[in-house]
Amino acid sequence: MRAAVFSAGTTVCSEVPEPEPGSGELLVAVTSAGLNAADLLQRAGRYPPPPGYRQDRPGLEIAGRIVGLGPGARRFSLGDAVMGIVGGEGQAELAVIHERVAMPVPEALPLEVAGGFPEAFLTAHDALITQAQLASGERLLVTGAAGGVGTAAVQLAAAVGAEVIAEVRDPHQRAAVGALGATAIGPEEVATHGPFHVIAELVGAPNLPRDLASLSLGGRIVVIGLGAGATVSLDLGVLLQRRARLFGTTLRNRPLEDKAIATRQVERQVLPLVQRHALRVLVESSYPLTDAAAAYERFTKGAKLGKVVLVNDAAAAR
Ligand SMILES: NC(=O)c1ccc[n+]([C@@H]2O[C@H](COP(=O)([O-])OP(=O)(O)OC[C@H]3O[C@@H](n4cnc5c(N)ncnc54)[C@H](OP(=O)(O)O)[C@@H]3O)[C@@H](O)[C@H]2O)c1
Repeated sequence: MRAAVFSAGTTVCSEVPEPEPGSGELLVAVTSAGLNAADLLQRAGRYPPPPGYRQDRPGLEIAGRIVGLGPGARRFSLGDAVMGIVGGEGQAELAVIHERVAMPVPEALPLEVAGGFPEAFLTAHDALITQAQLASGERLLVTGAAGGVGTAAVQLAAAVGAEVIAEVRDPHQRAAVGALGATAIGPEEVATHGPFHVIAELVGAPNLPRDLASLSLGGRIVVIGLGAGATVSLDLGVLLQRRARLFGTTLRNRPLEDKAIATRQVERQVLPLVQRHALRVLVESSYPLTDAAAAYERFTKGAKLGKVVLVNDAAAAR
């Protein structure tokens, strides 16, 4: 089968052996698979995949139809459309996913788009709803809001009745992000739009002093992305005075049990909204798996609205 493979610092589409589903696993003919910043970090050798996944095989999220069942797999049947997060090797014609982290794809979500759902929506839901306990009526700041996780976070927060302020550095993306249910502003305007009960920090450490200064009493900052840097000097006196919480999160290296719980929450609380067209997966651009190189190039350029996905046309035609 064909798969995206890292080779000499680039991404190519190459022949690789087909995977086999193990106990409780599903073999999926992948229709679409999203790209993530983690793939680029892995390519650069700065983010090793979890044990059992190859360093040169990217892909953290998939959507497609089940073509094989491993021993004991019983949540789904052959032919079912599923999506979910995987530890790696998802950008391929075939991929393996444990049934406990697989979700049914709602009919309202085309399979060609669904590969851009799992990582962004699981991350945003787990960080904002489960961990930060964002509540109706609270004010939320989402930084880096035009990206995959940002566009998911804005929509989820608006859906639970929060007032969402979206920091979007590219002025051309602000109207589109605003239309998702937010007031979209530039980075220089953040300080005048606080205080915030919750801040989803998707850009990184340089924002933290400003985030802390913009936090309301009892506020929560959840650090999700560190693209702009991981170190900063902070006045923790502000944290004490505001009785605030600052915490970080990752999905990829959690045990299967934790990922399964996060997946069930999304299944119950988010998929019905997708089915009612109340939430959308924003796909900036799609590329055939055979042109994985172009997809990676597009992702690297930035200034995108939502996700970049790889589509396997052969599976899409099933
Ligand atoms: N902790 C986790 O479990 C987890 C899970 C998924 C993702 N992440 C991380 O979370 C971050 C966001 O993920 P994503 O999928 O949404 O990425 P993405 O689609 O690449 O979006 C990133 C967004 O941040 C903006 N941005 C980047 N640097 C910025 C800066 N210095 N100032 C203002 N805006 C900036 C980008 O704007 P431009 O387009 O203008 O560059 C883009 O809109 C990434 O760092 C990713 O690695 C973490």
